[in-house]
Amino acid sequence: MKLETLAVHAGDRKKPGDYIPVTTPIYGASSYIYERLEDLDRVFADEKQGQSYARYGSPTTNALEEQVAALEGGEFALASASGMASLHLALLAALTDRRKSIVAANVLFGQSMTLMMNLLEPTGVAIQFADPCDLRAFEAAVAEAKPGCVLVETISNPLMRVPAIDKIAEIARRHGVLTVVDATFTTPVLTRPISLGADFVIHSSTKYLAGHGDVLGGLLITRNEFRQVVQSLSRTMGTTMGPFEAYLTMRGVKTLPLRIERQCQNACRVAAALQGHPRVEKVNFPGDPAHLDAETVRRLFPKGMFGGMVSFAIKGAGREEMFRFNDALKLVVRATSLGDVHTLISYPAITSHRELSPKHRQKLGIGDNLLRLSVGIEAAEDIIADLEQALDSA
Ligand SMILES: Cc1ncc(COP(=O)(O)O)c(C=O)c1O
Repeated sequence: MKLETLAVHAGDRKKPGDYIPVTTPIYGASSYIYERLEDLDRVFADEKQGQSYARYGSPTTNALEEQVAALEGGEFALASASGMASLHLALLAALTDRRKSIVAANVLFGQSMTLMMNLLEPTGVAIQFADPCDLRAFEAAVAEAKPGCVLVETISNPLMRVPAIDKIAEIARRHGVLTVVDATFTTPVLTRPISLGADFVIHSSTKYLAGHGDVLGGLLITRNEFRQVVQSLSRTMGTTMGPFEAYLTMRGVKTLPLRIERQCQNACRVAAALQGHPRVEKVNFPGDPAHLDAETVRRLFPKGMFGGMVSFAIKGAGREEMFRFNDALKLVVRATSLGDVHTLISYPAITSHRELSPKHRQKLGIGDNLLRLSVGIEAAEDIIADLEQALDSA
């Protein structure tokens, strides 16, 4: 054959030998072939397991899905290009053949609110918000709205409230409603919402699951009963996670329990140091024995583990002092993400909750002097020393 032909065909399409790679490789192929076309036909028809086209998945994304489904105790998982894509899929799947109405927690990741208000509501989905930490109010909202599903997060951002997911799922079940839980902040190391009664669990795997600040992604975990609707939505919407992202995420998940253990220990020490600092007005941390949801935390989280997220308010600080404090940090990284190996800090008033009016933020308890920390795996002493020097110099 001519050089041009060899250039595009030589070396490709080899069947693997009798070796097994120890970790799952990156399958970058956008399509797959079979010796007999009939087999491809059966794969497309879901009559035979296999690969067909990258928008439908790849061996790498499938391996990640199997890994995360095992960790969550779910029957089926699907990886998406972002946490937002996973949430969108979960809500659409939960509302399929059900009442087009959602009762959602009143404090949620900002973009999750935007998704419901700007994308779903104009299509006829009724959205209502209720406080998930006030079970009576939440049940009243569910009883009145008779929604298709409820949506809650395992730890609220940035005030670190911890709703009783098990009781919310019980309320939902009593009213014939599905429960969607965003478990990004807790990961399956702290909570496994399916075992608590949830129907859909989602993660922004950009955060703790991948854990290294280098990949965007989302995971949705549910029961087999929803497999078909979720797959069909993902294939049509084109939200599938790419194989390179799946590879990095799978690699991250391998050390998730180790990282979370260390982040939990570090967060306890950082929260205690902040609590004792004269310039700190208030610390929000689920490990605080006086936390408003301490009983739920004791019941749902493993003993001594409270997550790696801490928020705190600086006494009397206005925007200028807040900017000075942030700029004085030398180790802690000023970035809006969370769940990475390195400690991150964000200022909700100008980032995640920027869209809300100052009055609305104040009503939710998100003052202009509040900061959110995602504690990393560095030495706790170094994180604390950096925060203290910045507090002293601001
Ligand atoms: C709780 C929560 N859910 C969902 C998302 C969206 O995830 P992604 O940025 O991966 O789309 C985020 C992102 O910050 C988040 O914090």
